[in-house]
Amino acid sequence: QTLDSEFSIKHQHNPIHHIETRVKSLNSIVKKLHDTGIPISMDNAKKNLHDIAGVRVVCSFPEDVRTIAKALLSQDDIILIEKKDYILNPKQNGYRSLHLIVSIPIYLANGKREMKVEVQLRTIAMDMWASLEHELRYKSDRNFSDSDAARLRLCSEAISEIDREMQRICAGGTLGKIMYAEGEYNHPIDVWDI
Ligand code: GTP
Ligand code: MG
Repeated sequence: QTLDSEFSIKHQHNPIHHIETRVKSLNSIVKKLHDTGIPISMDNAKKNLHDIAGVRVVCSFPEDVRTIAKALLSQDDIILIEKKDYILNPKQNGYRSLHLIVSIPIYLANGKREMKVEVQLRTIAMDMWASLEHELRYKSDRNFSDSDAARLRLCSEAISEIDREMQRICAGGTLGKIMYAEGEYNHPIDVWDI
């Protein structure tokens, strides 16, 4: 919610389609510490897990992902700890998303505390893929074959093409905002240097 109100950026269209937030359950925290071989304690969870608090910002168009990431990181009380750009470099399986681990101050009755938040930014099309891939990979009973994986990778490429086309439509012939659509995304200019 803090982020949501911070993102009230004036635009021709709303760059944020929707925002989801989640707090990692105690079970998942314990499991993750256990799986990584870290002794289970509150201190270790705070020190070692960066994704206890998670925010997913689902954007309308690919350029919006940059716009929002830049806006977020230009806040002087938000510190970037780690960036993983799976849009520039998609995961082997086709996953596309920009991940930022940031540290934000939270104000409690007994003073100010820094809290790490994992922010995932992606387009609504990338979100569709991620959501269904997760569903297929983890939720379904049947086996997930190599062929399934290859087809999902192809879906991811098709979705990426759709994102480019949506960006072109959004740009509506103006030259200003079509860098992504025309492939310049792969040669990021300074704005992407976050
Ligand atoms: P964990 O995966 O959380 O152990 O940490 P990591 O360091 O590997 O982080 P990464 O940034 O790769 O992924 C963190 C989160 O991104 C995951 O918890 C998922 O929510 C999401 N994510 C990463 N990869 C995928 C993927 O291949 N498919 C889907 N659907 N989500 C993914
Ligand atoms: Mg992972």
